[in-house]
Amino acid sequence: MTQAEGGAAGRPRRLLVRDLAQVASPAGVAAPLRGAALGEIDVVEDAYVLCGGETVEAVGRMRDLPALDGDVLELDGRGLCAVPGLVDCHTHAAFGGDRVEEFSLRAGGASYEELHARGGGILSTVRATRAAGEDGLRAAVTTHAAWMRAHGTTTFEAKSGYGLDRETELASLRAVRDAGGAPTWLGAHAVPPEFDGNGDAYLDFALAHVLPEAAGLAEAADVFLERGAFDAMQARRYLEACRDAGLALRLHGDQFTEQGAIPLAVELGARSVDHLEATGDAGVRALSASGVVGVLLPASALFLGRPMPPARALVDAGAAVALATDFNPGSAFCESLPLCCSLAATQLRVSPAEALSACTVNAAHVLGRADRLGRLAPGYRADLVLLDAPDWRYLAYHLGGDVVARVVVAGELG
Ligand code: NIG
Ligand code: FE
Repeated sequence: MTQAEGGAAGRPRRLLVRDLAQVASPAGVAAPLRGAALGEIDVVEDAYVLCGGETVEAVGRMRDLPALDGDVLELDGRGLCAVPGLVDCHTHAAFGGDRVEEFSLRAGGASYEELHARGGGILSTVRATRAAGEDGLRAAVTTHAAWMRAHGTTTFEAKSGYGLDRETELASLRAVRDAGGAPTWLGAHAVPPEFDGNGDAYLDFALAHVLPEAAGLAEAADVFLERGAFDAMQARRYLEACRDAGLALRLHGDQFTEQGAIPLAVELGARSVDHLEATGDAGVRALSASGVVGVLLPASALFLGRPMPPARALVDAGAAVALATDFNPGSAFCESLPLCCSLAATQLRVSPAEALSACTVNAAHVLGRADRLGRLAPGYRADLVLLDAPDWRYLAYHLGGDVVARVVVAGELG
């Protein structure tokens, strides 16, 4: 890296990433992308990216690079490819403890749902998260955000949902916000033990005593609509109250069984339905005909040994899909979006091009940020992932590989 001579008081600091093998970015300006547009990637060979302050100023071929005056920090991009900073639109990064013991039991044959029903699973993380306290939670979210960043995630969403009491839910949302994440209130993740299986009574409490403050901290609300968690009537009550408090809506739906998540999401105008491993043909049709994004979480299906979601059918039917990690201690202890791109290409029959759009522009749309995130084009925030690769598709191709060489966030080299 060299610092060019010169000075330009008052002008935003500039960063030139030069001599890149390729710059790849979802084409156009629309969001979310669906159908053929999902796989349309603009690729510039022998290229540069010029960042002016926090935003992308220009992208082009090296031979067209104009003379730049003033202060320009130059980064040698030889042997590297640039893609937009990755956007992880579904994580559960606010948790204490781990579930390595449960993981080992599952390896021996115990099922995730059985462990959950026996008070393990999500509820064991609730105990550890409550015990962590606000400082412990802040430290955990900061650590998890750094793990994500090392894998190219420059924007992350993270849910609460492992506190399930007022204090720990609000502490989780503050920890996510203060670590730079987009906080989602997953107040309806599980019924905590003190409510003895009474989901309605728990929701009475959560909506009366947590929502008023959560609505000022979170951007969205989420519910786990599933056998053993919350039913469709409870999910509707929770989501309607959250919508009335100004939150965008998300659902964990069709993970193990279809319980009406897609029709409810469509009716309420939710931003997304996430998981979809159990979605059948009617659900594929309904989601594809709607503006709701289907969030694919292949690391979760892999980690639990469950069927993969019908991603190819969704894409072919014209659904808007996003791709996320579902990073959490129980069903997906995986913070790597590049690995999810590999799983998309090998397990979901989603091409590397479609996967890139799904974890950039479409994920940004789920977070309400597609006007400024998810593309490498003038005016977008200068978030770049520099891949150690001669072709940007190594993002998916290099299975479990150390593919991220460097990350730039808002024009700053990481
Ligand atoms: O998205 N399914 C619900 N929630 C999380 C898992 C939570 C856990 O197992 O701790 C998920 O997979
Ligand atoms: Fe999840």
